[in-house]
Amino acid sequence: MTEKDFIPGKAGTLPEKGTISWQAPSNIALVKYWGKRPGQLPTNPSVSFTLDTSATRTTVKYRRVATPSGVPTFQIFLDGVEAPHFADKISTFFERISIYQPFLGAYKLEIRTENTFPHSSGIASSASGMAALSLCLMDLERAIYPDLKEELFKKKASFLARLGSGSAARSIEGGLVEWGRQESIPGSSDLYGIPYPFEVHSIFRSFQDTILLVDKGEKQVSSTVGHGLMQGHPFADSRFDQARQHLDGLRPVLQEGDLPAFISLVESEALSLHAMMMSSNPYFILMKPGTLEIINSIWAYRRETGTPVCFTLDAGANVHLLYPEENKEVVSAFIQEELLSYCQDGQYLKDQVGSGALRL
Ligand code: DP6
Repeated sequence: MTEKDFIPGKAGTLPEKGTISWQAPSNIALVKYWGKRPGQLPTNPSVSFTLDTSATRTTVKYRRVATPSGVPTFQIFLDGVEAPHFADKISTFFERISIYQPFLGAYKLEIRTENTFPHSSGIASSASGMAALSLCLMDLERAIYPDLKEELFKKKASFLARLGSGSAARSIEGGLVEWGRQESIPGSSDLYGIPYPFEVHSIFRSFQDTILLVDKGEKQVSSTVGHGLMQGHPFADSRFDQARQHLDGLRPVLQEGDLPAFISLVESEALSLHAMMMSSNPYFILMKPGTLEIINSIWAYRRETGTPVCFTLDAGANVHLLYPEENKEVVSAFIQEELLSYCQDGQYLKDQVGSGALRL
């Protein structure tokens, strides 16, 4: 599919008003998206676990206006309180998607959004937030074009979400989601995420993700700025090749449930991502001392016990601890005894692989 396939054809009948609610999950990348081309297109493909309990719930109330314009007028509320600081990001999003949803200009929208995780947790809500909003907008599109097929609905929701935040393209479907064109992956596209199309061992269907909140503050460098620094980065091409190789390397690992190979690939990805930050111009570090303490504790624990627990990081100091469901109890004891002291206010979030977005 190309961008053109997401532009609606004939004019439909616009409903006067209505209300729609969706819940969309957060996701954690195994192979990381870091670097983008104009139009929110990734410089390398990525794959993530969809999470279960970390999610955003969004309700959109729409009402037709007397004089339509190019983009909708809107108000945005977070946890019931008007949040004008989000307005610029949402306006930019509406401008980017206006050619794909031209009918939006005929509406005034009231957007109410809340996260299931504390918003001061330092956990990015842009992926789940943009995905939940895009799904609501797709529901409005379906009210206008009732023939819209389910497959196009999901693809276009991912396509729109990507225009809000790249990783949001992976927050529609459940399980494992791949985003970005890769020759060896049929159906893969830079435009939207797809359910990972190969066989996946059952151990990865219920994998656990405990998010250790090392630093709940605002990051000094946003992901968007970090992506930008990959342009002209001295190691960019090798990094993009590495991500492609990792993605191909994951296929047998995921199929066979090869935990040692999974651990080494996932940890290498996390550290490569942060190595890119440390070697960009200007350079920066998002890990904190607690991040490194936790990584060292995980390595020591794994060496001593053989428990297949590993870490990954996104663009921040928090650590995602990944492990099979069958190791839940021992890992929980390990967290309590050895890792909690590195978490800000002793806080962490328990999550696991989830089944994707839900209409509420
Ligand atoms: C490190 O999707 O937050 O989490 O497209 O600028 O909104 P924008 O960036 P964003 O970048 C996420 C980067 C990452 C890796 C990943 O999720 O693949």
